[in-house]
Amino acid sequence: RKKVTIQALHALRQSKTPISMLTAYDYPSALACSSSVLTDITLVGDSLAQVCLGYSSTTQLTLSEMIHHSKAVARGTTHPFLVVDMPFGTYHSSVNEAVLNAVRLVQEGRAEGVKMEGGREIVDVVRKLTEVGIPVMAHVGLLPQRHSSMSGYKVQGRSVEGAKKVVADAIALQEAGAFAIVVEAVPLELGKYITDRLKIPTIGIGAGPHTNGQVLVYDDVMGTWSGHKAKFVRRFANLKEVRDNAIHAYGEAVRDGSFPDAAAESYTMDKAAWDRFLEE
Ligand code: KIV
Ligand code: NA
Repeated sequence: RKKVTIQALHALRQSKTPISMLTAYDYPSALACSSSVLTDITLVGDSLAQVCLGYSSTTQLTLSEMIHHSKAVARGTTHPFLVVDMPFGTYHSSVNEAVLNAVRLVQEGRAEGVKMEGGREIVDVVRKLTEVGIPVMAHVGLLPQRHSSMSGYKVQGRSVEGAKKVVADAIALQEAGAFAIVVEAVPLELGKYITDRLKIPTIGIGAGPHTNGQVLVYDDVMGTWSGHKAKFVRRFANLKEVRDNAIHAYGEAVRDGSFPDAAAESYTMDKAAWDRFLEE
């Protein structure tokens, strides 16, 4: 498949073909995302913090850590459009700072677009990045980078006021130039309403079946993540069981001496050479 472009993403929306987006955090997961022609977007999500680095929150992830992982993902990415999350604290102090940090994600991390969480308060940043040629994917609804100020990871936009806020934010971000928008953990009615109101593709995660696309965390899809499973997660495989069984089987084979097999899994020395070795 040829490289997915923003134009191609808009065409998918136009033709009502659901957009498929998945996260990746390193070279093997990037290769896995690229292995299907159906993957449209690979996202180096800052969920990297929890699923790969063992942090308890995305707020602990630094820009240099993100760049380090983005480089590896870029090496394994073929056709999917590559989007990288801007880590917490890298786009709020000033528009200038945000541009410098986004440029690093493009130059060093090889991002084709950057994603950032927030509403009307970040439209200046979205506009500037768009102007200088760094495509921005917006992210509204549940904002994991604000779990402390929002008192946890909760469904957003369930109240009339809450729904109005998410809609107004989404419209403002589109007006500022965002090329697409992630909508996280909102009622399906709101996911559909925003999708109908906007002209840019909406990519849902816990936003129901009516958004223009879906995104999930790689480890949730694989069933390797043993932490909390949100309602919106579907495990498309149970690799944790397969993986843990392999680890245990390896340990057993080492313990009982059945690994390695002398004939099939070992090297041998030429008999004459070995005899001479013993003599010398
Ligand atoms: O960090 C992440 O993985 C994300 C997606 C799930 C949207 O932001
Ligand atoms: Na994220």
